[in-house]
Amino acid sequence: MSCMGGSNPYISQEIPQPAAQKFSITFQPMNVVVEVQPEKIPYGVTGLPGSILDIALAHGIDIDHACGGVAACSTCHCIVRAGGETLSEMNDAEEEELSYAPGLTPNSRLSCQSVPDGSKDLVVEIPAWNRNAVREAH
Ligand code: FES
Repeated sequence: MSCMGGSNPYISQEIPQPAAQKFSITFQPMNVVVEVQPEKIPYGVTGLPGSILDIALAHGIDIDHACGGVAACSTCHCIVRAGGETLSEMNDAEEEELSYAPGLTPNSRLSCQSVPDGSKDLVVEIPAWNRNAVREAH
């Protein structure tokens, strides 16, 4: 056995705590309002538990996520128009991948890595190049 008990810097980065209270996310430009139920988090298996991507996919908001939600692409790029201060800190992997996202803005985040704490409602815009994939659940 040669296990030295080392740690992968990415794996050891803290997993953000998902929201423990109800809040809503308005997805633009479709103006679909999703009411987030904390007890249902994680909604799925894609992206960090309770991340914008996790919440969106469960509600028919089909944000692109080529790498499967592990901060290894930039296709889940979104622009946070309100409530961005309630999101988890950007980790190193997100910062790196986001730098490749087309149309980067100061409010850009990777939706698979951004976990709202639920203290405020959010408004999240899905960039134009992702909108073809967007459809409502009903
Ligand atoms: S889905 Fe690939 S970085 Fe978010």
